[in-house]
Amino acid sequence: MSTLLEVSGVSVSFDGFRAINNLSFRIGAAEMRAVIGPNGAGKTTFMDIVTGKTKPNEGHVLWGEKSQSLLKMSEAKIAQAGVGRKFQKPTVFEDQTVEENLLMALKKPRGWLSVLMYRPSIRDLSRIKELADEIGLSEALARKSGELSHGQKQWLEIGMLLAQEPRLLLVDEPAAGMTPAEREQTTAILVEAAKNRAVVVVEHDMEFVRRLNCKVTVLHEGAVLAEGSLDHVTSNQDVIDVYLGR
Ligand SMILES: Nc1ncnc2c1ncn2[C@@H]1O[C@H](COP(=O)(O)OP(=O)(O)O)[C@@H](O)[C@H]1O
Ligand SMILES: [Mg+2]
Repeated sequence: MSTLLEVSGVSVSFDGFRAINNLSFRIGAAEMRAVIGPNGAGKTTFMDIVTGKTKPNEGHVLWGEKSQSLLKMSEAKIAQAGVGRKFQKPTVFEDQTVEENLLMALKKPRGWLSVLMYRPSIRDLSRIKELADEIGLSEALARKSGELSHGQKQWLEIGMLLAQEPRLLLVDEPAAGMTPAEREQTTAILVEAAKNRAVVVVEHDMEFVRRLNCKVTVLHEGAVLAEGSLDHVTSNQDVIDVYLGR
């Protein structure tokens, strides 16, 4: 499987505290990966490094077929290169309908002329139908986003990210605040999304992680403590000691 992202020997210190400590991580172009670990393990900081929000003190972050370094790129450039990130708090436009939100998120030509002239094409509209199907909101296209349930807002935001066709999608604790049924649908959406892109999911809910049915990376003190199938890592004594046995 071709590698999409390769992080190696990365360290980050905040005021002398090593939040990320010689971390290495690799993900393929069409791979789902769960990242678990105790609070403070460095999971969110790891995502901050990949998106360019936090620049490491040491190490390499290489992207794509050409092994381009992400370290010298701005957050905007990294996003343009194909890294999408879903934050815990949804940032949908509540006064706009689901359809309008998806339309705004569609990748379209930039520049003042194209913005002024922009009208959704048949192709845009059919892409929106596809996206709405993928996130289970086909029946809700005409609804104001502010009326959606918490889970539906989260799916809409995933749809808005997918609209930009990221090659890597980073998702931090998606199940928080969701009902069991919403959690189940969220895993289905993410599994579908990972069929043709890389998806990294940070999540504490082990049922959720099990349904992702993927390789799991356990972080602890800013480094990889264990990696492998969920059964493999959850039977690892170090993982039990620092995370599961709490
Ligand atoms: N901007 C920051 N300034 C100082 N310390 C930070 C900053 N961001 C994260 N940290 C610290 O780095 C460690 C890892 O944090 P984080 O990546 O949020 O962990 P996780 O997401 O696994 O819970 C924690 O000890 C946290 O307090
Ligand atoms: Mg976190």
